[in-house]
Amino acid sequence: MSGNDGSGVRRGSAKTRREFLTSAAAVTAAGGMASLLPLGCEQPKSKAGQGALAPTLNDVSGPRSLRAHGAARGLLVGCAVNPDHLDGEPEYARTVAEQASIVVPENAMKWAALRPNPTQYDFRRADDVVVFALSHEQKVRGHNLCWHEAIPAWFAGTVTKENAAQYLTQHIQTVAGRYAGKLHSWDVVNEAIELKDGRPDGLRNSPWLELMGPSYIELAFRTAREADGTALLTYNDYGIELDTQEQIDKRGQVMMLVRRMQARGVPIDAVGIQSHLSAGDAPGAGLIHFIRELRAMNLQVFITEMDVNDRKLPEPVAERDAGVAKTYRDYLTPVLAEPNVTAALTWGITDRYTWLNGLPHASRADGKPERPLPFDYDYNPTPAFFAERDAIDGRTAQALPGADPYAPFHPTQPQRPQFE
Ligand code: XIL
Repeated sequence: MSGNDGSGVRRGSAKTRREFLTSAAAVTAAGGMASLLPLGCEQPKSKAGQGALAPTLNDVSGPRSLRAHGAARGLLVGCAVNPDHLDGEPEYARTVAEQASIVVPENAMKWAALRPNPTQYDFRRADDVVVFALSHEQKVRGHNLCWHEAIPAWFAGTVTKENAAQYLTQHIQTVAGRYAGKLHSWDVVNEAIELKDGRPDGLRNSPWLELMGPSYIELAFRTAREADGTALLTYNDYGIELDTQEQIDKRGQVMMLVRRMQARGVPIDAVGIQSHLSAGDAPGAGLIHFIRELRAMNLQVFITEMDVNDRKLPEPVAERDAGVAKTYRDYLTPVLAEPNVTAALTWGITDRYTWLNGLPHASRADGKPERPLPFDYDYNPTPAFFAERDAIDGRTAQALPGADPYAPFHPTQPQRPQFE
């Protein structure tokens, strides 16, 4: 049933890990530091060789990195990653290694990625993320075990009311079981609330709800706990960040769901607040109240998927960067000051690969690429980077237990851990 032999999922990169790591090492050997240093430097690329050895204000490596600042204040900091780029683009890999103390696969652990057909699993790309993270002393979030999207095409004709519980249980046993003991947390259920679907309990009419009724949530969490006794089991959702009436109502339904779970003894350790924001958004008192209520319930909170789209801002880059950075600052400063917020991740590290540019309803009318992340298209830190780092610094100083504040990028073949 399990194994590395699933055939239906495309390998995005023709390069093997060994080839990539060898070529990264070759870059270092041939070009010395200069070939790896331009990121984070203010000089235009063409001048990078001249000034690269002198640190500039924009040098954000090592102790100036997000992960180092987070480590000094008890906060895991990181981003969603794509194994194709980790394998294929040394600058991407290096930026992730340098900045993140926690990563999450953007797509590689979703059903559609892992399940080429009803009987096989393809763990290759998910494993790549875990291997990369472990070899760079990073933690990994699993995302996700149960969602209404990224469901494979074969699902509709195969999974029925009669066998849905069995499929869900077996998937979670296999996937969470494979990585048991190696993950920081799992998004066990993702986006289960949708007020527009009109149910009194706020639950979304997802395939899982239609097949199993509301009990699928409890089954997913209980099975996840049995399969992995150490990952922090997380309920993750979006549209609960602001104090608009719609978001206040949705946040209320999330709180009710979590309270029902706790009342029934369902294992849950954390709530993930996705935080896909638009420039200009700022949290009201409601979000902070929610985080504190979760703290009183003994739950951690993770900022799981932050980005700030700039589609309502005018075209000039400086104006957009300022607006995006202000939103990072306004949002993260109060949120990260809460002690039960223990991890903050952006949905990607570089504007080069933001999912927003692929979204018809979220893209800019003028067709310009969005700039929602801490690094721009060319891996220069954006004003949002500094806003995020300042917000981290606003937390009370507190060492992150057991964490290396920053680990260097190892251009060597990592030991592949055994998953089975
Ligand atoms: C998105 C990915 O970024 C895209 O590449 C993919 O095409 C669709 O899914 N909420 C989530 C994430 O929980 O899994 C979504 O990721 C973004 C919204």
